[in-house]
Order: sequence, then structure tokens, then C-alpha cells
Amino acid sequence: MRRLVLWVVAGVGSVLLGSSIVVESLRDAFRRMRFFAHPHHQKNRIQGQAQLQKDVHLLERALSLPEPRRPFGAVVTQRILQTIEDFGAVVPVELLAQAERALEDRLQWNEHGIRPGPVGTKPEREGETILSTRRSVRSFVEGEVPTAQELEKIIELAAWAPSVSNTQSWRVRQYRDPGKQDELLAHQDGHVGIDVIPLLLLVSSDIRSFVGPHERNQMWIDGGIFLQQLLLAIESQGFASCPMNFSATNAQANRLRKAASIPAYEEIICFVALGRPSGINPADSPRLRPDNFLLD
Ligand SMILES: Cc1cc2nc3c(=O)[nH]c(=O)nc-3n(C[C@H](O)[C@H](O)[C@H](O)COP(=O)(O)O)c2cc1C
Repeated sequence: MRRLVLWVVAGVGSVLLGSSIVVESLRDAFRRMRFFAHPHHQKNRIQGQAQLQKDVHLLERALSLPEPRRPFGAVVTQRILQTIEDFGAVVPVELLAQAERALEDRLQWNEHGIRPGPVGTKPEREGETILSTRRSVRSFVEGEVPTAQELEKIIELAAWAPSVSNTQSWRVRQYRDPGKQDELLAHQDGHVGIDVIPLLLLVSSDIRSFVGPHERNQMWIDGGIFLQQLLLAIESQGFASCPMNFSATNAQANRLRKAASIPAYEEIICFVALGRPSGINPADSPRLRPDNFLLD
């Protein structure tokens, strides 16, 4: 009898917990539906600015690849010009300047085959160097792969990332075989043009570490913080990296899980390409001034 009562209590408890997670997730969904940009609706200022930033980045990114197409970027350029017409008066001036530079760099490449020169900030203090000079690198030296010990050191440093209650839910899988890399990257859309990836990492988070409706998004927060620390750890050991998104639907994630034998209890955070930089200048990707982010 006592056992039966315990079973019923446990059952009711998990239904209640499950339903509160569902309710909270639905509320998340409604807020995203309300505020995300919609392809067929007019954008507000922030959505217009994000669109411009993403399109400018497409031009900059293309020019950081080992072999950019030539000519390239006609459609994106049209969209940039349209967005500037619609939002030019209300987006930050430094973003407009960046857009102009990217358009000019595209012309230089398309017409003369000249890539943009190196740019970037100069750190004022030693401790600032790694924070302000890490860049996403999309062109690597073939065959220069970190050894098992070098990779272990990178992961050891990355694991100093903070996480809620020090749960350390992150997991990292490694792929050196180009055939396997291709198979996995077939499920990803941001690797195009990065033709050599000496080492491919896949960062995920084990969601069995989390409890209750309030922790329903914790895996993305801890996973994202770990990802950044991983990029800095890679940099600190003399290698370079490019995070490669896995912004995916559940169906896409399931297909990748199957291809990589990842269990259902792991959420996939991001791919990371890792290697020695080939020397091709990374994309400029300048940042807006702090007053764009720091609110009163
Ligand atoms: C979560 C995440 C996903 C990203 N995905 C891609 C990707 O799929 N392909 C790519 O070339 N760059 C990708 N990037 C790199 C960004 O474009 C880059 O971080 C941004 O432009 C800033 O430039 P920086 O990293 O050189 O400072 C990604 C970055 C992050 C943080």
C-alpha cells in the first residue's frame, strides 16, 4: 500500500513538473513569435539593424575564405542598399561605415581580385590581447592538427568556464576524418567555403544536469559560456577557430544526433573548426561602441 502511494505521488509530481515545463516553454515560444523578425512583415529598427549587420557580415565572411567566388555578392549587395535606404537614418553610424567598407571591399575583389587588408583593435594591456584579437578564422593550414595532449590542454582550460552550480554539463566530440566531417557538416549551413578543417569539434550539453521549469534554458547559457571559453582556450594555445552554428529545428537536430550517435538527452550547442591559421586575413567584424549595449 505504502509503495502504491509513493508511486502515485511520484507520478503526479512528474506530471505537474512536466506540465509546468510545457507551459513555460509555450510562453517562451509566444514571446519569440511576438518579437523575432518575420520574413514577410515590415521590420522595426532593431530588426533592420540586425538584417544589415548580417548581410554586411556575409560580404566580409566571403572575403575571409580561402577561395572567394569572383564575382560574388550581387543579391546581398542589393539587400544592403535597400536596408540602408529603409533604416540608414536610424542605425549606428559606425555600422553604416562598416557597410560602406564592405561594399567597397567587394568591388575591389570583384573588379581587381584584391582582398581587404588587416584591420582590428590594438589592445592596451596584455590581459586584453586575447579578448580583443581572437577572430573567427575560416582558412586553415592543411594537416596541422593539435595532438591529443594539446587538445586535452585546450579542454582543460575551457572547462574553467563558469556554469550554474558548477554543473559542467558540456560535452565535446572530436572529428579528424574529412569524410566524417563532411557527413556531419551536411546538417549545418555555415561551413560553406571553409574547405580544410584540421579538427572539427562538436559542443553539446547534457540536459540531465538540469531540474525544473526555471532551468529549461540553462543548457544554452552554460553551453554558450563554455563555447566562448573554448574559443579563447584554443587561441591561448596558438591555434585558431571558427564557431559554426547549429541553429536548427528539432528534426534537423535529430538527424545530426543520428549521424553522430548523440543521445536524445544532449542539446547540440555548436560546431567549432580548429587549426593553424593559413594567414588569410579574417573578416574585420568590427564591434559597435559600448553605448549601443550599455543602457542607462
Ligand atoms: C554561435 C555562433 C555561430 C556561428 N556560426 C558561424 C557559421 O556557421 N559560419 C561562420 O563562418 N561563422 C560563424 N560564426 C562566427 C561569427 O560570424 C563571428 O563570431 C562574428 O562575425 C564575429 O567575428 P569574430 O568571431 O571574428 O570576432 C558563428 C559565431 C557564433 C558565436
